[in-house]
Amino acid sequence: MPLRSKITGTGSYLPEKILDNFQLEKMVDTSDEWITERTGIKERRIAGTDEATSDLCLKASKRALRSAGLKPSDLDMIIVTTMSGDMPMPSTASILQGKLGAKNAAAFDLNAACSGFLYGLSVADSFITSRKSSRLLLVSGEINSRFINWEDRSTCVIFADGAGAVVLEPESGKRGIISTRLYSNGELWDLITLPGGGSKHPIREANINSKLHFIHMKGNETFRVAVKTLERLVTDTLHADGLKPSQLSLLIPHQANIRIINATAERLGLPMEKVFVNLQKYGNTSSASIPIAIDEALKAGRINEGDYVLLEAFGSGLTWASALIKW
Ligand code: COA
Repeated sequence: MPLRSKITGTGSYLPEKILDNFQLEKMVDTSDEWITERTGIKERRIAGTDEATSDLCLKASKRALRSAGLKPSDLDMIIVTTMSGDMPMPSTASILQGKLGAKNAAAFDLNAACSGFLYGLSVADSFITSRKSSRLLLVSGEINSRFINWEDRSTCVIFADGAGAVVLEPESGKRGIISTRLYSNGELWDLITLPGGGSKHPIREANINSKLHFIHMKGNETFRVAVKTLERLVTDTLHADGLKPSQLSLLIPHQANIRIINATAERLGLPMEKVFVNLQKYGNTSSASIPIAIDEALKAGRINEGDYVLLEAFGSGLTWASALIKW
């Protein structure tokens, strides 16, 4: 029997503050009708001023550990995926390790933007199946609202905050992660960016005046590439793993835009009952969207033992990725 990585615990945390489309109507030139029709989003969560990304990750992590029946000291590795970490140095994973008291764990961050959770899952799977880790916490947390220009209606209606966590452990058998696939096209790096605050555009008055410390997105161009790429990704993944779409119990896509999700489901011929969607409540929480969705899907009884679940994501980089899990 092969050794596989199995998700043995899940948890999520969404900040309390809700920002709905009607409130946004009062902030920028937009409407509930436009946002609903073009994105599917109705409301999103915004972190409190006293919350940092590691705080969101901490709450999601504690819930995931509780559901796995583990203590922080049982962990041997912590991977945080984020594009909105607490600070450039140290890693948010190290800060989280300290807050959790996970004294036996190595800790590092991974950034693949909205594809971060699936990149993290692939790295975690490699650590587990090569026996370098046996109790791994993978947490995806984002406070995108800190990097949003509230005067830019093309981004401020989309990006939002949240965190999701999973615990991974080894198990011999047919259940667990079947495959992960990672892709990147750096030629299109400028479609979605947060240019400021790094070595290219450090924090200087001129760069702040040029609004380089905000998320910038060429939305329509990104949309067209995302639809084409994801349609190919999901069909290629199932084909390579020898699975028919009808054998899938649930598709959990990155929650970016309902029109992208509908197009992907249509390409697979999947009815929407087999697609998990929660972006109407949370908007686009970048790398956190898939683990939040997994946690909610499990709690809602949408995933059962033996189910085939397909995960897919697309984001800045450009990056895109899939994972097939037999639950
Ligand atoms: N409210 C009202 N009008 C808006 C608006 C808003 N919030 N945002 C943009 N518009 C306007 C534009 O200014 C444009 O007006 P114009 O025709 O007068 O120039 C019009 O709506 C159409 O803009 P466009 O950007 O072509 O809209 P779209 O249908 O592509 O939808 C997104 C915009 C951002 C919702 C969509 O492109 C998208 O979801 N992109 C992909 C996001 C993604 O997947 N990212 C990767 C993962 S993070």
